[in-house]
Amino acid sequence: MRVNHAGEMAAQGLYHGQALVARSPAVRAQLEAAALEEGDHLAWCEDRLAELGAGVSRLNPLWYAGSVAIGAGMALAGDAISLGFIAETERQVEAHLDRHLEDLPEADAASRTIVEAMRADEMRHGQSALDAGGRALPAPLVAMMRAVSRVMTATAYRL
Ligand SMILES: [Fe+2]
Ligand SMILES: [Fe+2]
Repeated sequence: MRVNHAGEMAAQGLYHGQALVARSPAVRAQLEAAALEEGDHLAWCEDRLAELGAGVSRLNPLWYAGSVAIGAGMALAGDAISLGFIAETERQVEAHLDRHLEDLPEADAASRTIVEAMRADEMRHGQSALDAGGRALPAPLVAMMRAVSRVMTATAYRL
């Protein structure tokens, strides 16, 4: 759940960074609405971590700030790429949450409910980004995003 919490920190950062630079007001509004939902996810994870007696990642300020920079950078490439970046990010998050659901004990209903609700929202975020004109990203960029998220997942698990 700490990794999920750090991921939601990053998700908010990405959306905030992208919204800062978005060209069209409609895209900006969509990004801000999604960022609010990532804020809900963040709160659910934080509450669950507290119930489990575990703390949040100490690197949260780094996840957030780094993500704002990456989000703003992606948005500089235009709204179609920025939306495509969201679709790919949400797809990768969905895959991560699927793996997490496989690992989570059936008995941990509280955590499972949270992860399932987040998964449904992430799928919707990704689909809305495609519907709004998100373009497929070049394969090397997709591979790089996977590598970054692997490093982040491994680090946030420990720190
Ligand atoms: Fe989320
Ligand atoms: Fe999302």
